[in-house]
Amino acid sequence: MDKVTVPVLKEKKGKEKITMLTAYDYCFAQIIDEAGVDVILVGDSVGTVMLGYSTTIPVTISEMIHHAKAVVKAVKRALVVIDMPFMAYQESIEKAKRNAGRMLKETGAEAVKIEGGEKMKDVIKALVDIDIPVMGHIGLTPQSYHVFGGYKVQKEAERLIRDAKALEEAGAFSVVLECVPRQIAKRITEEISIPTIGIGAGPDCDGQVLVIHDLLGLLGDFRPKFVRQYVKLRDVVKKAAIEYVSDVKNGIFPDDAHSFH
Ligand code: KIV
Repeated sequence: MDKVTVPVLKEKKGKEKITMLTAYDYCFAQIIDEAGVDVILVGDSVGTVMLGYSTTIPVTISEMIHHAKAVVKAVKRALVVIDMPFMAYQESIEKAKRNAGRMLKETGAEAVKIEGGEKMKDVIKALVDIDIPVMGHIGLTPQSYHVFGGYKVQKEAERLIRDAKALEEAGAFSVVLECVPRQIAKRITEEISIPTIGIGAGPDCDGQVLVIHDLLGLLGDFRPKFVRQYVKLRDVVKKAAIEYVSDVKNGIFPDDAHSFH
């Protein structure tokens, strides 16, 4: 079992596909680490899939730290990346450095992820200069929900290519491409030297990422076009809970086999 580090991940470009999934707690992090995923992202999607927020915007640094601590305890092989939440890095470079440093020191995560392209170049460079590895994130950046007016595919090829190149120049070690037409994602992947990790960006990226709740079918009927559900776990969990309720109500559980003597 070779530990995935930032240099190991960069080396994978052009040689093998990179796999990344989100996790927000000890149990799921342990399962997906054992499954061999390369990168575990403690995403600020924690806000929408675990905490019931309607966007990622309200997520706080403390919430990110709380979840990342549990994930880091479970992970042996994967690279653990933590999302910097909205307003943890936009205000000033000094604040971005302080917050990123705190998030790595208090959680044990190995890198931060930051949303935004050219506009975030100076922030990313400042973090990389103090030895904080940064994963970029361009295309549909969910923290810009109100600017985009919703979750919309980003199709401006020249801007996206400029953004990707700005992140590469700033020293980011990889970049997430979210909801970008596959032809543009392919071009970016060919034109930059760092790995691209796609979500809704087609098959030509260097790697793929999904939110674990989407892959497991844990959420309701809402399913973005780019998600493949590998199991309908919501139905499985619900069925088990319904059976449990029925067994307890009818005196079937606990039985003698589940009792102490
Ligand atoms: O927060 C998150 O889960 C993410 C992924 C969608 C890449 O940023």
